[in-house]
Amino acid sequence: MSTHRVRVGSTDLDVGADQTILDAALRANAWIPHSCTQGTCGSCKLLVREGAVNHRESPEYTLTCDERARGMALACMATPCSDLVVEPTGSVDESIPRHPLRDFTGTVVELSDIAARTRRLVVELDDDLAFNAGQYCELLVPGTTVGRQYSMANPPGDTRRLEFHIKLTPGGLATENWVFATLAVGERISLRGPLGQFHLVAEQEQSAILIGGGTGLAPLKSIARHALEHRLIPEIHLYHGGRTRDDLYDVDFFTALAEEHSGFHYHPVLSEEQWDGATGLVTDAVLDDFSSCKGMSGFLCGPPPMIDAGVKALKRRRMAPRLIFREEFTPALPTSVSTPTSTPEE
Ligand code: FES
Repeated sequence: MSTHRVRVGSTDLDVGADQTILDAALRANAWIPHSCTQGTCGSCKLLVREGAVNHRESPEYTLTCDERARGMALACMATPCSDLVVEPTGSVDESIPRHPLRDFTGTVVELSDIAARTRRLVVELDDDLAFNAGQYCELLVPGTTVGRQYSMANPPGDTRRLEFHIKLTPGGLATENWVFATLAVGERISLRGPLGQFHLVAEQEQSAILIGGGTGLAPLKSIARHALEHRLIPEIHLYHGGRTRDDLYDVDFFTALAEEHSGFHYHPVLSEEQWDGATGLVTDAVLDDFSSCKGMSGFLCGPPPMIDAGVKALKRRRMAPRLIFREEFTPALPTSVSTPTSTPEE
């Protein structure tokens, strides 16, 4: 395969003619800010200072004609047409631990129904995967070149045994036609990771509020378990929102975790069913429970309306925008089901 020499910041890479700049950079542990890896979030924009790129299917709503004319490109979509010098436009925090992107294989050791149209997939890897709590992997759909992104729900200390929470998408290539159809315990699967910049890596002096909608619980479970294991956060308040009791899962797990750790609080909230727990929007439950979130941090994962409402609620309770981190399920490109994007709220 022909390659081109690409300079990203101060790092020189060999990038295959069919390889994206982001893929090559992350494999070489040269960090480029990114979230969705499929052209929908815009967080991986580069300035191409020298050379030419093929933008491939970069959507115009993410990379406008004007931006292309000004030499911008999406690192997760663009491939090199020549040797290049590029510069990420997003800020790079050098203090965050980075783990190179790699390809992995593993065996399915658990595939179980855990909630309405939701399955837990546990994969035993053949090799260790290092990642930051909150990051995700891309599962390769067999017989295709298509990858689907799912956050790890296990803490980073579990380097061989990855847990994913997968919701059925009607007609979805990865879900209706694979995970909910033919996939079975004992089968071999391929994946690549880690990816994404929604993560907890450092100790925090003040409490954190974690808000998840549906399978948005997955990266929050990883973050909460990692934080508790390493005493990174003094108090954690985990809110999980669903419409009915059928949407909740891991209730016993989190109830036991709260009994074991006095600094961990679990709040399941239902929006469409009366029960003996909290009802209404999960973000309203946060507003009801806190008069001030000043100094605290927030981690949100779920559908865009929940993220928007959560960010507004936390700001209303005086949480600093730089301490609000979100991972949003965004509309996918035609070949994808859904994909997370994560950005600190500016
Ligand atoms: S557009 Fe490239 S990572 Fe989202």
